[in-house]
Parts: sequence; structure tokens; C-alpha cells
Amino acid sequence: MTAFDDHERSQWAGRAAAYRDSFAALCAHPAEALLDAADVKAGDRVLDVGTGTGTVAALACDRGGRVVAVDAEPSMLELTRRRLPDVEVRRATLPRLPFPDGAFDAAVANFVINHVGDPAAAVGELRRVVRPGGRVAVTIWPYPPPPAQQLWATIFDAAGVERPADLPRLTPDRDFARTCDGLSGLLRRAGLSRVRCGTIAWIHRTDPESWWTGPAAGIGSPGLVMQRQDARTLDRIRQHYDRLTSAYRDAGGHLALPAAALLAAAAVG
Ligand SMILES: C[S@@+](CC[C@H](N)C(=O)[O-])C[C@H]1O[C@@H](n2cnc3c(N)ncnc32)[C@H](O)[C@@H]1O
Repeated sequence: MTAFDDHERSQWAGRAAAYRDSFAALCAHPAEALLDAADVKAGDRVLDVGTGTGTVAALACDRGGRVVAVDAEPSMLELTRRRLPDVEVRRATLPRLPFPDGAFDAAVANFVINHVGDPAAAVGELRRVVRPGGRVAVTIWPYPPPPAQQLWATIFDAAGVERPADLPRLTPDRDFARTCDGLSGLLRRAGLSRVRCGTIAWIHRTDPESWWTGPAAGIGSPGLVMQRQDARTLDRIRQHYDRLTSAYRDAGGHLALPAAALLAAAAVG
């Protein structure tokens, strides 16, 4: 485990409900495409790694998959167990998974590889637990970010908020470009074959309070910034939030935020 992983553990600790009520809906959008890319069908043994509140696992069950869902964060596992009482839900942390080689037909990780300290090792572990001929599929956020993600940086800049300088980062030798080329290269280096990657773009519709409550509860990169601020600064951020999100409000007052993800999939063997 790296300092980056330790930091991730503390960032997610106890935050499952806040995630469910905010960013989980954003992350849910590419879930069906992820399962399609992993070729998940009835009867398949499917591993959902970093299951969070179980969105992808639930959809894989709907397809008739025999699903195992794992996550590093106990509060996520608790919510997933409640949501999917018939699914095997276990604590497991990339880059080590407690399964034998080739145990699954497919392994999927929806917005998880971007949360690990050694992405190549994590993808290599997904490959290890999938049988030859099976599939691995992952999503991450692209860089440069689409407006849904970029908006927070714009708000913090407008509010004059400094970004924390002491956050652990991936070491350069472990980092990769958050582009299709970068993600495809990561999968190839992990020994996967027939790698394909594409961008999924959509409009994320949410109400302004839900979009605020995630970062306000410490979720995601904007949450890291928010949790370091005093009450006066938070008030100022909120004022700029109300002003700058107004450009994305529809007639009903909901936000319509352009979002995008990179989806890459590949075969084992
Ligand atoms: C952005 S959430 C995505 C959750 C879920 N896949 C979804 O689509 O809603 C990232 C999840 O990955 C989990 N996670 C982060 N690092 C992990 C690791 N090294 N091993 C396993 N899970 C991890 C977090 O606890 C969190 O539940």
C-alpha cells in the first residue's frame, strides 16, 4: 500500500451514504456500457471491484450474472449488502484480491482505477482473476475534465480558495495519461489483449443541493478541498457555486452538467 492508498482509505471512510446521495448517480451512467464491454451475460461469474453502493453489481445481477462485489471501504459494503442480500459481498483492496487465478468470466471496475496508488498492478490483478478468454472492463474520468468536473475548479478559483498542497499523488512512474491512449497503454502493459477504449459523453441531471452535498461531505477531489475550509470560506464557495451553476440550470431549476468518462475493455489471453 502506498501513501496514496492510505489517503484514499481515509477519504472514503464512513462516506458511503454521502456517496450514494451525491456522486453515485453520476458514476451510474456508464454502468450498462461497462457490462456490455465486459460481455456480461446470464450465468457469467462477474467480479465488481470497488463496487461502492453496488450499482454495477445490481445491473450485472439483472443480467443473470453470478456476481461477487468487493470494496475496500466497510461502509460501502454495508450498503451493498443491504441492497443486494443475495450477492456475495466481501472486503478486498486492490492491488490484491482474495480469489484464485481465473476465478471469473469478467471483472469490472467503474471509476476505481483512478483511486489506486498502483494502477498497473491493479489492472494486472483484475487480469489475474479472470479466466483466459474472459474480459476486463474499466472506466475512469478523462483529463482535461468535462464541465461537470471542471466546474468545481472554476468555483474554487472564483472564491480564491487554495488547493491543498500536501495531498499524496501518484509517483510519475505509476501515473498514466487520462486519455484513451493512456488507459489503453495501461491495460496492454498489464498483459491484456484486444484493448479497446472510447469516450462516453452524457448530460448529468441533478438538483443543485445533491451536487453540493457530495463535496460538502468530503466526497471526491472537490470534497478534499471543501473539508479544509472554515465556515466563512465555505459560505463564499457556496455563493460562487450558486452563481456559476446558474448557467447549467434548466427551466425547473435542475442542473444539466456535461459529463464524460473513458471506458476501456480488453481480453485475457
Ligand atoms: C467513485 S467510487 C465508485 C463506486 C462504484 N464502482 C460505482 O460505480 O458507483 C470508488 C470506489 O472504489 C473503492 N476503492 C477505492 N480504492 C480501492 C481499492 N484499492 N480497492 C478496492 N476498492 C477501492 C472506494 O471505496 C469506492 O467505493
